[in-house]
Amino acid sequence: MSKTLAIVQREHRALAAVLYTFDHVLADIRTGKVTAEFALFDAVLSYVQDFPDRFHHPKEDEVLFPLILKRAPEVKPMIEELQAQHHEGIRLTSDLKWKLDAWKADPAKGFAQFDAAAQKFIEWQRKHMAKEERTVIPAAREKLTAADWNAADASFADNDDPIFGANPKKVYDQLLSKIASLAPEPYGLAERKEPKKPEEIPPSRREQLVQLHWI
Ligand SMILES: [Fe+2]
Ligand SMILES: [Fe+2]
Repeated sequence: MSKTLAIVQREHRALAAVLYTFDHVLADIRTGKVTAEFALFDAVLSYVQDFPDRFHHPKEDEVLFPLILKRAPEVKPMIEELQAQHHEGIRLTSDLKWKLDAWKADPAKGFAQFDAAAQKFIEWQRKHMAKEERTVIPAAREKLTAADWNAADASFADNDDPIFGANPKKVYDQLLSKIASLAPEPYGLAERKEPKKPEEIPPSRREQLVQLHWI
C-alpha cells in the first residue's frame, strides 16, 4: 500500500477511536453510570476540531483529491461534497465547543444540549469517513498511477511537512494519549467515577440550617 493511503487510513482509525470514546462516555453519563469530567471533553473537542482541520483534511484537499480528480473526473461531485463537509465540520465543532462552555456554566442543565449536538456530530463525522473509505479511496486505488502515488508520498514524506505546522504528529499523538488517560475504563485508562447516590451527597450548608430549623 502507498504511504499516503496508509497515513490517511491510520488517521481515520485514530479519529474513529476518539469518536468511539466520546460516544460511549456520553452514553454512560446519560444513563448515570459515570460522572462527567470536563477535562476529557476539552481534550476530545480539541482533537475532533484541530486534528481533521489542521492535519488530516489538508492531505485530502491538497494532495489526494486533486490527484484523484485528474485520473477519475467522474468522482468530482463526490469530492465536492466531501470538501463541503470539511467546511461544515468546522462549524459543527465550533458549535460543540460553545455548548460545552454552556454546560460548564450550568452543570445541572447544560448536558442535554451538548449531548444532543455531540451525538449528531459523531454520526456525521463517521458517515464522512465511511464515504471516503468506501468511494474515494477505492477510486484512488483503482485509478492512480505509480507516479501519482510517488508524488503523493513525497508531499508528506515524514508526516511532519511544513504545510501541517511544526511537528504536528507529536502534538496530536500527545493529545490522543491525554484522551486515553482521562477517559474512564473500559474506553480509556482512568478509574471510573460513578455518580454519588443521593444519600452519599453531603447536605449543603443551607439544607443543614433548614434541617436544624434555624431558617
Ligand atoms: Fe475528509
Ligand atoms: Fe478523511
